[in-house]
Amino acid sequence: SSAKEPETSLFSFQGVGVSTEDKVHIPDAYGKPKVLYAWGDPIDGQGPVFKPDAGNSAEEQEKQAGMGHDGMQWFPWPGDDASRSDRGLLVMNHEYTDQGLLFTDGLEPITEEKVRKSQAAHGVSIIAVEKKDGEWKVVPSQWSRRVTAYTPMTLTGPAAGCELVRTQADAKGLNVLGTFNNCASGKTPWGTYLACEENVHGYFGCDAEGFQPNADQKRYGFTASGANYEKEEGKATSLYHWWKHDQRFDLGKNPHEANRFGFVVEIDPQNPDSVPRKHTALGRFKHENAAVTLSKGKHAVVYMGDDEKNEYIYKFVSSGTYDPANRESNLKLLETGTLYVAQFKDDGSGKWLPLVLGQPGLVKSDVFTNQSDISVRTRQAADKVGATTMDRPEWVAVHPISGKVFVTLTNNSSRGEESAKINSANPRTKNAFGHIISWDEAGGDAAAETFQWSIFLLAGDPTIPPAKDGEPKVNIKGDIFGSPDGLTFDPRGILWIQTDVSSSKIGQKDYKNLGNNMMLAADPNTGLVRRFLTGPKGCEITGLAFTPDLKTMFVNIQHPGERSKENEPSDPKDPKAVSTWPDGANGGRPRPATVVITHSDGKLIGE
Ligand code: FEO
Ligand code: CA
Ligand code: CA
Ligand code: CA
Repeated sequence: SSAKEPETSLFSFQGVGVSTEDKVHIPDAYGKPKVLYAWGDPIDGQGPVFKPDAGNSAEEQEKQAGMGHDGMQWFPWPGDDASRSDRGLLVMNHEYTDQGLLFTDGLEPITEEKVRKSQAAHGVSIIAVEKKDGEWKVVPSQWSRRVTAYTPMTLTGPAAGCELVRTQADAKGLNVLGTFNNCASGKTPWGTYLACEENVHGYFGCDAEGFQPNADQKRYGFTASGANYEKEEGKATSLYHWWKHDQRFDLGKNPHEANRFGFVVEIDPQNPDSVPRKHTALGRFKHENAAVTLSKGKHAVVYMGDDEKNEYIYKFVSSGTYDPANRESNLKLLETGTLYVAQFKDDGSGKWLPLVLGQPGLVKSDVFTNQSDISVRTRQAADKVGATTMDRPEWVAVHPISGKVFVTLTNNSSRGEESAKINSANPRTKNAFGHIISWDEAGGDAAAETFQWSIFLLAGDPTIPPAKDGEPKVNIKGDIFGSPDGLTFDPRGILWIQTDVSSSKIGQKDYKNLGNNMMLAADPNTGLVRRFLTGPKGCEITGLAFTPDLKTMFVNIQHPGERSKENEPSDPKDPKAVSTWPDGANGGRPRPATVVITHSDGKLIGE
């Protein structure tokens, strides 16, 4: 830190250094982080217990934590006062599986049982947690459950029942099985959880000779091999291989099944019998998170990023309004409304462009016959209206007091190419380090159709020069980091930033001084950034929740031990090659996990 470092009144903890160690570092005053809920741990805290050789069956996996812990939210224990902070429900996503760690003998040969186990290790956990004798534990409850890649759910909104979502098994196009690749999440003012479907293309494929994805499938990255069309075709293949034993995922046999994924799914943790709903009104793309707020007129507003290079930022505004006294009507708010996509102008102004048939750029055509087509072909619609391509929009966070909106743009190796020219909202060629931008909605109203934006910070290592002379430099005030991804405001207005430097870049080239992935606190007013946590080897830090008293923090450590070669699964014969976190050398293999952090003197997190 430099002599000019700004002040903050929001946090006072002693920051930690960068780290390449295989452990979770936090400030000394916080003691040791405790592992609460790792992949394979039973959702009721009792059983079936995790087998360190990954020998649990698919049926057992359905009652255990999935893999790839990601977005996470805290909810009050149903019936409790909402401020109670010694027990509650934690709901979290299990984004994806490392197929090399999930099975005792690795991916090959792929069997029906393995596909089923992989599907059971995806989805969402709803668990009850309680602090007893000073220690947080997972406890049994009537609300504890797993949502998996085959849990029945319903479609709502413009695309529900439309031709594009009808399949042989669901002729009405209303009932879908499952959710997967649930990346980050959201929480509504009426107490429901939003699980966001991101890279759904990788689960579908087709082994039929000569199969070619159609234009719609290509726009979303679907390929015969499950590899991403834009990024990876020819270089790598997806390792899920679900289509080999579950025909739903065969693009040739069931071409419409893929249209039923890529949505935001609403789950009611208070009602264990409730059927999750996929809200097509919020659009279909590679959803990152869903940041929910209320407009001045009490409409529900949801901010969302589409995390792929040169994709867009979206906002949904509900038709109905929030009524704190009527939960039943609130539960319908995300079914009907207007979806917008963002345009960032170089003069610092911005516009929300409605994705509504008949609006400029969106005339009736074979591609857009009615509004339901826009809910399925959302990216194609956004392409038509003049939206601004961004450097991989990840999480959006809304300041709890001012309503100012922040978004992480994690990185974009293609920025500066002909198809993705530099603009002032994405100002760096190849953007290796990412940045964070913010905006104020016109009149301070989340439902406004215009805004004023600025860059909050340009991330990175200031000793690495810009990729192109004359372009703006790294300008972090305080502790350095790259590839911001997770972004959460706590109720005091501390902005928590979590990083996702890909394992192929950790410790290499531009990232040689930045160590393992980390979490930092930022003051949104002064810009000061201070590092709070560093993770074990090969991991990403993602997912964050607090108890209402702000004395307990839950953080997700995703994919510890991930190998550094892109798309390379862990070696089942040597699963501990990269990391032994959290179980140590005597454990079986690295496991994603939720950790609990408290201040040793019982102070608030950040003190
Ligand atoms: Fe699942 Fe964009 O991270
Ligand atoms: Ca992410
Ligand atoms: Ca990421
Ligand atoms: Ca991830």
